[in-house]
Amino acid sequence: MQFKLTEEHEMIRKMVRDFAQNEVAPTAAERDEEERFDREIFDKMAELGLTGIPWPEEYGGIGSDYLAYCIAIEELSRVCASTGVTLSAHTSLAGWPIYKFGSEEQKQKYLRPMAQGEKIGAYGLTEPSSGSDAGGMRTTAKLVGDEYIINGSKIFITNGGIADTYVVFALTDPESKQKGTSAFIIESDFPGFSVGKKEKKLGIRSSPTTEIIFDECRVPKENLLGKEGEGFKIAMMTLDGGRNGIAAQAVGIAQGALDASVNYAKERVQFGKPISAQQGIGFKLADMATGVEASRLLTYQAAWLESAGLPYGKESAMSKLFAGDTAMKVTTEAVQVFGGYGYTKDYPVERYMRDAKITQIYEGTQEIQKLVISRMVTK
Ligand code: CAA
Repeated sequence: MQFKLTEEHEMIRKMVRDFAQNEVAPTAAERDEEERFDREIFDKMAELGLTGIPWPEEYGGIGSDYLAYCIAIEELSRVCASTGVTLSAHTSLAGWPIYKFGSEEQKQKYLRPMAQGEKIGAYGLTEPSSGSDAGGMRTTAKLVGDEYIINGSKIFITNGGIADTYVVFALTDPESKQKGTSAFIIESDFPGFSVGKKEKKLGIRSSPTTEIIFDECRVPKENLLGKEGEGFKIAMMTLDGGRNGIAAQAVGIAQGALDASVNYAKERVQFGKPISAQQGIGFKLADMATGVEASRLLTYQAAWLESAGLPYGKESAMSKLFAGDTAMKVTTEAVQVFGGYGYTKDYPVERYMRDAKITQIYEGTQEIQKLVISRMVTK
């Protein structure tokens, strides 16, 4: 057993940490306040190769692995969780299903420009009446001649409106529900595709979340991803890996809040000594640090399993569950360590706390993670 990262992983961590500190952190609070996505940051990530970390060079990636990808999401989220999720949805929700299920032609046409950061990816599964019950979707896709005609809408789409390429799930055989679901690659300029309402959110405010609408949307039949009827499995398998990206985001948020708390607690003097030297705060910092470390180990383990080609669905649900809950606890405690100052926008911990909440909700709520884990441990 080996707990040391490889030189390549250490190098990627250092590169992303420097980039995050110098290029992402300075505007994080302002972008949060203005709910503003910054394409320049995405373009700079592309220049560094971050938009295609796990994909082979033949598809425009840098040929690294899922652990390197998780380290990158963690380091970005340590300063800005919105930037973390932009990259996470782009890579594991949109890139992954194309990499795993796409034809050679689809990979060259869609994965390559996404890996190189020329195009942004997004994933559309959730609908107004089907969230946790993803199999209850209503969007339909009907084959007419050489095209599928898609009708319906999807909500809560990360990267909605800024993405060029959407991996979307629709019913090709509505009677068969999950077994009648198919996956499609949809370009934002296909006729009948439009972007609807942009959500105003509690956290990750510089990551746009929108509705996407299909009104007789015409999709060439070669844009079917995988086979007809395979869509639900593709959606589920995509989320197996995606969830670990969210775990990495949660680890980053928690680490950022812990760093800020430690620095503040060492400087803030009350009752004649730094509050870090007072047990009430010292013990809090100890619990926070332990939670972050345990979350990181679970997350890296799941990423390692995926990179090694071993089963990782249960571990990924566990990492998302544990790291998401830890991020919420750690960021709430961080605000407590800062006291009244923590409740203001003068310090970043209130933003970390708002950003942490979504890690308990998206890519499957914590309750859905427990369902997935309990099914796997009892089967
Ligand atoms: N891998 C492969 N196949 C899987 C699978 C997986 N992880 N999970 C399920 N399947 C297969 C099953 O084996 C079954 O196939 P068979 O009948 O051939 O055996 C089929 O899919 C149906 O599975 P279930 O009976 O388990 O389906 P279900 O309706 O009970 O749903 C669920 C299972 C786990 C609750 C699922 O609906 C689920 O994950 N819900 C949560 C959805 C979710 O995470 N949404 C987040 C959207 S993305 C997002 O958050 C936005 C963003 O952009 C960040």
